This record gives sequence, C-alpha cells and structure tokens, in this order.
Amino acid sequence: MNDNKNNIFAKLQLPNGKSIKLPILEGTVGPQVIDISSLYKETGMFTYDPGFTSTGSCESKITYIDGEKGMLLHRGYEIEYLATNSSYLETAYLLLYGNLPDKQKKEDFINAITTHTMLNEQISNFYKGFRDNAHPMAILCGVVGAMSAFYHDSTNIENKEERRIASYRLIAKMPTIAAMAYKFSIGQPFVYPSNKLNYSENFLNMLFSVPAEEYQINRVFADALDKILILHADHEQNASTSTVRLAGSSGANPFACISAGIASLWGPSHGGANEAVIKMLNEIENVKNIKQYVEKAKDKNDPFRLMGFGHRVYKNYDPRAKVLQKIAENVLKEEHKLENKLFDLAKELENIALHDSYFVEKKLYPNIDFYSGIILKAMGFPISLFTVIFAVARTVGWISHWNEMIEDKTSKIGRPRQLYIGEKPR
Ligand code: CMC
Repeated sequence: MNDNKNNIFAKLQLPNGKSIKLPILEGTVGPQVIDISSLYKETGMFTYDPGFTSTGSCESKITYIDGEKGMLLHRGYEIEYLATNSSYLETAYLLLYGNLPDKQKKEDFINAITTHTMLNEQISNFYKGFRDNAHPMAILCGVVGAMSAFYHDSTNIENKEERRIASYRLIAKMPTIAAMAYKFSIGQPFVYPSNKLNYSENFLNMLFSVPAEEYQINRVFADALDKILILHADHEQNASTSTVRLAGSSGANPFACISAGIASLWGPSHGGANEAVIKMLNEIENVKNIKQYVEKAKDKNDPFRLMGFGHRVYKNYDPRAKVLQKIAENVLKEEHKLENKLFDLAKELENIALHDSYFVEKKLYPNIDFYSGIILKAMGFPISLFTVIFAVARTVGWISHWNEMIEDKTSKIGRPRQLYIGEKPR
C-alpha cells in the first residue's frame, strides 16, 4: 500500500469554509493520484465521475500505459519487446507471476496449462441447447459461467492452490470452449485439443481441422495468432477487467467473474470493435467513399463513429496497432493478397483521418481493433469469432487482476455511489 511517503497533500476548500487535506500518492511511474477515500467520512460528500475518466480504482503492479507517449508495459516490459521475443504463454506467465519464466519454469508452466486443455465431456451437452445461429460470444458467456457448476474443486477463492488451478483451467480451456462454439455454429464435429501442439497451433487445429482430412498448420498464421494473443493479453483497468474486479470483489468464484468480463468485452465500444471495423470497411467499400464516412464520423448529429479509432487512454498511436500493421503485411503476403482490398481501404482511411483536423485535435488514432480484424479475416476466421479471440487472449489479464485483487488484503467490495436526481420523499 502506498502510504504517502513524501507527505504531500492536496487541500480541498469546501463552500462551508472548512478545508480538508487529501494525501497525494505516487506510483513508480505515471501521474500522481489524490487519495479521496476519507472524503465522505470527513465531508459527507462523494465525488462524481461518470465513466471513471479521472478515477483510479485500485493499486496494480501488472500493466502500465502512458497514453500520451503511446507506451504499453507489462510488468515493465514494452509490448513491442514481448510481441517480438516471447510466446503467448511466456507473456501469460509474466502477467501472472511478475517475471518472465526461465527454461524450467517455462516448461513446467506449458505442461501445466497443456494438461488442462480438455473440458469435462458433460459440458459439450450445453452447446446443443443453443441455436445454431447463436453468436459465439453468447455461447462463451454461458459456457464459461457454467464452468463453476463443474469445477467445484477450484472455486474456494481463499485457497491459493485452488485459485491457481482455476486460473490455469481458464487459460487452458478458453480456446477449447471458443473452438467448440465455432464448430457448433457451422455444424462440424468438435475437435479435441492436441497436447503435442503449442497453444496457438492447437487453437487453429481445433477451429479449422476436420476428422476426415489431414490439416496442415500454417506456421505464419500460427505465429501471427500467437502475437495477436500477446497484444490482447492485458490492458490495465479497462471496462472488462474492471468488471471482473468488481464481480470478484464480492467474493464470486473465478468462472463467474470471467464470464462477467466476457459480457463486458462484447460491446462495440470495447472488444466488439474489431467486428465493427470489418463491417464498417465493407460498408465504405471503396476508397472514393472514405471522405463521406469521415464526414459522418465528425457530424455530432450522426451516431456513426470511425470504428477502431480513438481510445480513452491513448492520445497517440496505440503501440499494439503498430505491431498489428506489420503482422497484417506478413499474413497478407503469405496469402498472396498484398493487394487485399480491406487492408488498402484501412490504410487509406487511417491516412485521411490522421490528416483531418477533427481527428488530430481530438487525438484520435487507430487502436488495436483497427487492424486485428483484417488479419483474422485473411487467416480464415469468421467475423463473429473476432471478439472471441480477444476474450481468449484477455483471459490471462482478467485472471491476473482477479488474483492481484484477492491477494490484496486491503481490497473491499466495490460499491460506487450516485448523484440521486429522482423524486424526493413523497
Ligand atoms: N470517431 C469519431 N469521433 C470520435 C471517435 C471515433 N471513433 N472516438 C471519439 N470521438 C470523439 C467523440 O465524439 C468526442 O468528441 P467531443 O469531445 O466533441 O464530444 C471525443 O472524440 C472524445 O470521445 P469520448 O467518447 O468522450 O471518449 P471516450 O474515452 O469516452 O471513448 C472510445 C473512447 C474508444 C469508446 C471511443 O473513442 C470510440 O467509441 N471509438 C470507437 C470504438 C472503438 O474503436 N473501440 C475500441 C477501443 S480499443 C480496444 C478496446 O478497448 O477493446
């Protein structure tokens, strides 16, 4: 707990003439925060900050974002470094434990995750209860929530070992659950996990292989998927992570909490944006229509926004989008589709928006969702799976934050207040 070592305070002057001192806390890097936790007790007032634009909700050691510089660090490592030098499971280990694993720890972690990839067979019956046109995110919410009905031996959140097993189960089983949702939607048999494959290869195999034929895993695609998973693995206190923390703050079990996170991620302002980007590019259709869509996005009377643009924290280029642009080039080269229409359209849209005063003044840059869909589409993923891939990747981030919160003995149930504007007593 940061204890205001430097003994600095902000003074708050109240209309009744009283003033109070509020401690200013410092993190290792980044803006200072004003500790207002004693405000209500001392003044009888709350703060008001809809959308939490100026509110820090917790202490965390996991991820740091400098939105002005366009910098993203996991446990102190830049995201570009991790995307170039580590695998998804190494990054997962880093997020969970704070350091990159040595050779032995890496091997042990991979073995442990690998031995949890299969699902209880009974769970496959759940899928039959869904309609075949169900959105895979709907299935994911339901099946992950239902895991708490199957894995009772890892729901005691006070027990560290049970928390570890639940964490590994979630990381290991998410690709299996996601691939089954897809297979169900296209009427193909489920493909069981294959533990001789690495995390991303296994995911591709479960999604795209069929029992009747030999499936060759494309190295470039498996590598691209692994990097996409790394880039989506965590992002500080975003909406879905905050949802997981809030759900978990009541003591709910981890499977229920992650299911809540998946629900929050689904929205088009958050993880659902990757799906929305492709729909938008298809609608724009031609470079000559871009200007008209940019004008629509700027029109205050039109709800349309450029999907994949803008971010609450980044006021500069999202560093993940930069890495993704490179991955897109590799994947499209592999596909001999360097002239890919959507990619060309996206690059031109980016170019026009980045030179438009509206986007420049509001510091609206491409975010992670701008290029991820183009890559996934070129690799054969259906649009409805894009947010599912995001959810698979983000599971380790959610789990790391959930564990951090439970281990923090000062954390309390999350319970914001309100500015009541309804009827007076009558
Ligand atoms: N197109 C047009 N105008 C925009 C856009 C956009 N994509 N994003 C923000 N603005 C404008 C907005 O109208 C507002 O203008 P004004 O100040 O005149 O009212 C200003 O920029 C600030 O926007 P805001 O909505 O107050 O900012 P926010 O921090 O609440 O929202 C955001 C952030 C990501 C929800 C928003 O930029 C957005 O809706 N972007 C499109 C959806 C998207 O790409 N989401 C993915 C986010 S990154 C991955 C993830 O989190 O999952």
